Amino acid sequence: MTIIRDICETDAEDWRRLWAGYNDFYETTVPADVTEHTFRRLLDPASALMGRIAEADDRNGGFSISMLHESTWTKTPICYLEDLFVDPALRGGGLGLALIQDLIDLGRARGWSRIYWHTRTDNARARRLYDKFMPADDFVRYRLTL
Ligand SMILES: CC(C)(COP(=O)(O)OP(=O)(O)OC[C@H]1O[C@@H](n2cnc3c(N)ncnc32)[C@H](O)[C@@H]1OP(=O)(O)O)[C@@H](O)C(=O)NCCC(=O)NCCS
Repeated sequence: MTIIRDICETDAEDWRRLWAGYNDFYETTVPADVTEHTFRRLLDPASALMGRIAEADDRNGGFSISMLHESTWTKTPICYLEDLFVDPALRGGGLGLALIQDLIDLGRARGWSRIYWHTRTDNARARRLYDKFMPADDFVRYRLTL
């Protein structure tokens, strides 16, 4: 049985474990103060960040973090899915799919225009999942660090 719900205070330890796994996947380390700030924003209803956690068999097994923004091409908000992660031990069990479907369901219920996300071209596992929803488009990303 899988439940997707908002991340809450009592998820702190599990979320930090999953977040550490996500950092490992990207071979990076988000500084501890940024991680803390991120978690605090996930709990803050005034923050644009939306954190959802996947519970499978009473175990927190994955999360999504996304945010809404305005668009010049639509009248209602667009959702950017920034982070998606499933515990390696639970992969292939449908949690990734459920986390994306959850955002689609929320978006339809709340009247968002669109959901988008990106991944590395060689992230074959993620892309196999994403291709179930729609094909990738032909945009490329430019990212300037300030
Ligand atoms: C991408 C990710 C979130 C998918 O989560 P998941 O729970 O394994 O996804 P699902 O179980 O819903 O699987 C859906 C599809 O993913 C692919 N998949 C899952 N496990 C796989 C595996 N072991 N090998 C290859 N493909 C796999 C398959 O296409 C699967 O569909 P299928 O059931 O038809 O085989 C997860 O692999 C992950 O956290 N990866 C590391 C972090 C990452 O890449 N995040 C996305 C960054 S943009």
